[in-house]
Amino acid sequence: MIKPQLMSVLFLFLFVFSPVCGDFDYLQLVLQWPRSFCKTRYCPNPVPRNFTIHGLWPDKQRIMPINCPAKESYKSITDSKKIKLLEQHWPDLTSNQGSAEFWRYQYKKHGTCSVDLYNQEQYFDLAIELKEKFDLLKTLKNHGITPSKTNTVIDVEEAIKAVTKEVPNLNCIGDSSQTMELLEIGICFNREGTTVIACRRRWINHPNGNQKITLPP
Ligand SMILES: *[C@@H]1O[C@H](CO)[C@@H](O)[C@H](O)[C@H]1NC(C)=O
Repeated sequence: MIKPQLMSVLFLFLFVFSPVCGDFDYLQLVLQWPRSFCKTRYCPNPVPRNFTIHGLWPDKQRIMPINCPAKESYKSITDSKKIKLLEQHWPDLTSNQGSAEFWRYQYKKHGTCSVDLYNQEQYFDLAIELKEKFDLLKTLKNHGITPSKTNTVIDVEEAIKAVTKEVPNLNCIGDSSQTMELLEIGICFNREGTTVIACRRRWINHPNGNQKITLPP
């Protein structure tokens, strides 16, 4: 016999942690600034001086579903045009053997959680399409935010909000008593990817508004 208390804990556990297959409320496009990322990891190739995709994460109100049961097994990407496009926008910065394993990992972890709307091919196409909606490098530059300059979190948020209409999620690295480095920008979209929406949750490393941050050159 299982004790009632244990049953309720078990129930809660299943309820909170079991992702309903392919069921998500919104999407978060996570862009990274490669030159910050490559301070924490070894990057064998020339490091891009533009934002690249970290991932496209289907998300829910309360928790982010991951590793959803796949309807179909992952198909390695073979179309050379697609590969070229993905290598440009979604490169594995830590690999000098191409990014295929990174894409597979990201798809299995995140892409499987949006299968009710996007099959594998559509998921990758969507990620590129969403990234192409905004040229954040240019947007930031238009607001006087360029690599190696120091700005505040609010400056960066406002600049991005000027084009997306919503405050982005920011993820910074470094010591908060000094100038931190901007690592990632999260932009949330509705399920269809047609409208930017406010992200439901702030990232833990989203520093407060007056924090000084920079994009390392
Ligand atoms: C940076 O990336 C954006 C979005 O993909 C692109 O439109 C822009 O041309 C790129 N800028 C440079 C300087 O490469």
